[in-house]
Amino acid sequence: MVKVAILGAAGGIGQSISLILKKHPLVDELALYDIVNAPGVATDLSHINTKAKVTGYNGVKELDAALTGADIVVVPAGVPRKPGMTRDDLFKINAGIVKGLATAIAKNCPKAFSCIISNPVNSTVPICAEVYKTYGCYNPKKLFGVTTLDVVRANTFVSECKGLDVSKTDITVIGGHSGTTIIPLLSQIPGVNFTESQIKSLTQHIQFGGDEVVKAKNGKGSATLSMAYAGALFVDKLLNAIVLNKTVTACSYVESPIAKADGIRFFSSALKIDKNGIVEYVPLGKLSEFEQNLYNECIPQLKVNIEKGVNFVAQSK
Ligand code: NAI
Repeated sequence: MVKVAILGAAGGIGQSISLILKKHPLVDELALYDIVNAPGVATDLSHINTKAKVTGYNGVKELDAALTGADIVVVPAGVPRKPGMTRDDLFKINAGIVKGLATAIAKNCPKAFSCIISNPVNSTVPICAEVYKTYGCYNPKKLFGVTTLDVVRANTFVSECKGLDVSKTDITVIGGHSGTTIIPLLSQIPGVNFTESQIKSLTQHIQFGGDEVVKAKNGKGSATLSMAYAGALFVDKLLNAIVLNKTVTACSYVESPIAKADGIRFFSSALKIDKNGIVEYVPLGKLSEFEQNLYNECIPQLKVNIEKGVNFVAQSK
């Protein structure tokens, strides 16, 4: 029996990812939690004729029940960006929300896989790690910042530009999940050559694709549908690992040895994951000069974002 809990399930991402997961054949129970309207969303979804049993939990009094027995917890709770905002601008509100939810996860399902979507991911993942440590249940192999949307965008934009079969395109994206910390490794796509200007424009498009959506929605939020699709892709991989005993590969922002030599504790890269969590941090391989420069620029930014998350938990103890 596999239970997936969605925290922030009544939001733009939450509702859409819940809909996709309701249809997933490997989900037995879908627990939807929010501070508003979770029972409404749950009742609506529960009428769909697929296997997963949907339950709704509203408000903090029902949070423990939503999490009890969860194998995977997905966290899209918090406020999204408005035009002109960076992901870091969300820290003030979302840091506290994520800290509270991480505390409840630690208390109720300390062995679950955590998938953190709430921004700024570069800081919210370190927040969860520090909270889990406080409760003695931190397993760095099971805490993931969801960066799949960066991979999805890279696959889409590069396939469109080069006429590739998008269903067979799987680009590695490393670094963090904000603007110039997002580093698509275009030089590692087999058999594809880019001009210098294509590399620059595709990289910029992938890094700032999120801003494009925020601008187009004009004050009505950020990416929700593509994010839900991406989040569900990531959860699908975890389900394959947990239920079907497979070893899957995915990029994610996690506590990692990959950039440790540069003083960075959390970093996104390709990972191999099985039912117990991360089993391998896939080495970055050879970076082009362009990618190496992006990496060098990314490191100091990530350092600030990570410290901000760690300090937030330390100061609020
Ligand atoms: P939304 O505003 O539509 O939904 C957020 C939901 O969280 C709301 O239903 C709200 O009631 C709920 N919420 C607020 N406080 C809560 C709490 N303490 N406990 C439980 N639920 C709570 O926002 P949207 O568009 O769904 O975005 C959610 C988050 O995902 C934002 O932080 C956004 O920046 C982030 N995001 C992350 C992406 C990624 O690639 N990792 C991509 C796009 C958005």
